[in-house]
Amino acid sequence: MRENEGNMVNKLCLVTGGTAGIGLSTAKMLAERGADLILLGRNEERGQAAVAYVKHSGGKTPEFLPVDLSDQSAIRAFAARFNSTHPRLDVLVNNAGGMFGRRQLSANGIEMTFALNHLAYFLLSHLLMPSLRSAQRARIVNVASDAHFGVNLDFENLQNERRYSGWLAYKRSKLCNLLFTYELSRRLEGTSITANALHPGFVNSEIGVRNSWTAGFVWSLVTLFAVSPERGAETSAYLASSSEVQSVSGKYFAKSRMKPSSRASYDHVSAKKLWDVSASLTQLDETALLASASHSCMISSQAATSRSGST
Ligand SMILES: NC(=O)c1ccc[n+]([C@@H]2O[C@H](COP(=O)([O-])OP(=O)(O)OC[C@H]3O[C@@H](n4cnc5c(N)ncnc54)[C@H](OP(=O)(O)O)[C@@H]3O)[C@@H](O)[C@H]2O)c1
Repeated sequence: MRENEGNMVNKLCLVTGGTAGIGLSTAKMLAERGADLILLGRNEERGQAAVAYVKHSGGKTPEFLPVDLSDQSAIRAFAARFNSTHPRLDVLVNNAGGMFGRRQLSANGIEMTFALNHLAYFLLSHLLMPSLRSAQRARIVNVASDAHFGVNLDFENLQNERRYSGWLAYKRSKLCNLLFTYELSRRLEGTSITANALHPGFVNSEIGVRNSWTAGFVWSLVTLFAVSPERGAETSAYLASSSEVQSVSGKYFAKSRMKPSSRASYDHVSAKKLWDVSASLTQLDETALLASASHSCMISSQAATSRSGST
């Protein structure tokens, strides 16, 4: 184990989209560091294959739970069950995401990219707050992307109704990941829970073909220049486990190093507005959310000092 790879023995980590690509490799790395793991994905067969793959890495056998994260009722049912059966959660890696070639709606009638790539992160993080709160220190790791550079949020077209472009919808959803991470971190200030975001690099996964975003042969050509899922998972695993970042919150990372995100991502007004819209679209009670975070045990004053906000 390298120095910056934290020992994860007796730590419970939940990785969404843990059945393929970057999420599966993240799960494998955390298992190798001794973590107990829960993997979420939609497909039972892929889930069991992922369990077998992680088990072979020598870590504990992970648990796979099928949850369609684009469906808010499925997230709610999962979170209720999780909170009642698990005394605590140490790390939540919000990783599951997709690109969608044509505009489609989730079970809740919400544009799919926005529903899966942003609202699922938002809702799951909030609903698992009781378990995160119970950990001595907890981390929320949001997989974003450098694809967020070069776009702004259009609150009049948040669900990409006008002139749909799968790539633009994706870029905006990744900007949402940053705005959400920074706002969440601000709201969690003084608690034992940190929230950071990352860019995994351009990774040779199935994301470009899974939902017909692009033709298979085009994707296979483009990904000739991509890094492996193992390389892509390094920053997720670093943020989930390294002691170097245990008190760091509200930051953006790539290659396991802090880096600035786009100017638009630091806009507090947009972050607050996105938060309010997201709370309304997920029907979350703001008062209950803030109450759940404020009960968290206080982090040390040294940790609090090291939180320098998101700018
Ligand atoms: N690949 C890249 O170059 C790249 C670059 C920057 C950022 N990212 C980000 O990295 C993250 C992971 O991407 P990836 O490239 O590893 O993608 P991937 O290979 O397509 O894997 C996506 C994972 O998410 C799960 N998933 C998809 N839709 C889901 C749903 N509705 N409910 C539950 N699980 C769902 C998939 O499992 P099932 O299909 O079994 O449900 C799979 O485990 C995403 O957030 C993406 O935006 C990727």
